[in-house]
Amino acid sequence: MSETQTQLLTKSGILIREMNEGDLAPQDAYFEGASDEFLIRMGVDPSKIRGKKSNPNHYAEARKIPWRERPTFGFAFEQNGKLIGGSALKGIVYGDRADVHGHLWDESLRGKGLATGLALEYLRHVFNLFELKTLIAEPSVGNIAPNKLLQKLGLKIVDTYEIPASGILLPRNANRYEITREFLDFDR
Ligand SMILES: CC(C)(COP(=O)(O)OP(=O)(O)OC[C@H]1O[C@@H](n2cnc3c(N)ncnc32)[C@H](O)[C@@H]1OP(=O)(O)O)[C@@H](O)C(=O)NCCC(=O)NCCS
Repeated sequence: MSETQTQLLTKSGILIREMNEGDLAPQDAYFEGASDEFLIRMGVDPSKIRGKKSNPNHYAEARKIPWRERPTFGFAFEQNGKLIGGSALKGIVYGDRADVHGHLWDESLRGKGLATGLALEYLRHVFNLFELKTLIAEPSVGNIAPNKLLQKLGLKIVDTYEIPASGILLPRNANRYEITREFLDFDR
């Protein structure tokens, strides 16, 4: 996939682009700098990430796989040339479904409407790229910001359940939101 296909400049001036090697160190620094309380609220097990660095070859290895077959895909968000956060799609089945979550790495940027302004354009962008039918978001019940953000967009909780621990994630109680083409096509 060419860079231009994965890139989008939003109306609010945020550049969305594919993550690359240069984003690993700031991403590691975000997780390393986060308090245990913050990580646990997101469902991340602090003991699984403390002192760990991302595999420097992660994106080089990912690029060896044709992008339509990749199970995960990372997007970076830049504002005025500065990296401010990112979003990962996981469990991608091209033409069908994926899971989504996102982060603003700089705490001072949170709670100011930035993600609300970006979310619909971002979600439409990845829907088109991966020709999705459903995007699933499963924020932890106690993590207020993403739940509020999704509900502000007009989404409803369709289920609440316990997700078992996996990878760096703790077992957690999560709300499920399902983002569909019909939802995104509706003029908002
Ligand atoms: C989730 C996140 C991307 C949302 O981005 P954001 O720019 O902060 O969101 P917005 O400012 O657009 O806020 C959306 C709503 O959530 C509310 N909100 C944001 N942070 C909040 C907080 N810590 N506590 C309570 N409400 C909060 C906002 O007030 C707003 O609601 P309102 O318009 O009714 O006031 C961002 O807060 C973040 O990166 N959080 C840390 C990482 C994380 O938890 N990611 C989700 C993992 S699934």
